[in-house]
Amino acid sequence: MTTTEHTDQVATAAASGASATERFHADKSPFEAVKNTPPERVATLINEVLEGVHATIRKHKVTYDEYNALKAWLINVGEDGEWPLFLDVWVEHVVEDVATEHREGNKGSIEGPYYVPNAPEQGSKGAVPMRENEKGDPLLWSGQVRSCDGTPLAGAKVELWHADDDGFYSQFAPGIPEWNLRATFTADDEGRFEITTIRPAPYMIPTDGSCGKMISAAGWHPWRPAHLHLKVSAPGHEQLTAQLYFPGDAHNDDDVASAVKPELILDPKEDGKGGFTVDYDFVLDPAK
Ligand code: DHB
Ligand code: FE
Repeated sequence: MTTTEHTDQVATAAASGASATERFHADKSPFEAVKNTPPERVATLINEVLEGVHATIRKHKVTYDEYNALKAWLINVGEDGEWPLFLDVWVEHVVEDVATEHREGNKGSIEGPYYVPNAPEQGSKGAVPMRENEKGDPLLWSGQVRSCDGTPLAGAKVELWHADDDGFYSQFAPGIPEWNLRATFTADDEGRFEITTIRPAPYMIPTDGSCGKMISAAGWHPWRPAHLHLKVSAPGHEQLTAQLYFPGDAHNDDDVASAVKPELILDPKEDGKGGFTVDYDFVLDPAK
């Protein structure tokens, strides 16, 4: 089994999968939101997915051994708690594309499995909670939140969460303070905010569980480029869920979660002191 040493504890797929599954159950009541979906739509969606599976089996003459391996693997994904990981890496990006294709402002990117609501409030300017001696290059990010017509959105919320310099998220990997590298900012009267944090490292999805097994069986890689996660919200506007990336990352063109868009790549400048400054604004669509 491959595991990753982190401080004095070990991050495992089963532990982060269990945390991600628990978090999902705590935050969402997914069935309530679709309780009025007509049976015809449910049947159409299920039938088309099954037709795709059936066509693949016929085309490639899938054997009983392969069918049983699939069955065992699907059972293991659930046992490892890795459904949030699997779905957010290989499916969510298409749902996100469809959900935001009408937008004139920022379109966004996947949420992924590691969002936690109600991160500590830091006002319009401040540092994200981090450990003394947090590893990583300092990043000072200035931005403004506006509506599509250019009106600044005073009081807009900018929630930020990201991995540390080892690629680990607080509350999902062991030995990290609860709100490390997670914060909520509130834009000032001009919709502006200024955030001090560190540049996150590229992120490897856990490789010691079922998803890792699938990745190695298929000869793929488990990497996501370094990224900042965000949710930006303001009254009367659609909430934006986005990720921001850094130029030159080897995995910007080759993200296991297919979640990079060119407009989400930052343009950081060296600050001459070993850190970086960057400007990036958000434009929110008025709610329909
Ligand atoms: C996963 C992790 C992420 O940080 C992310 O942005 C997307 C997916 C994952 O492990 O599934
Ligand atoms: Fe992430």
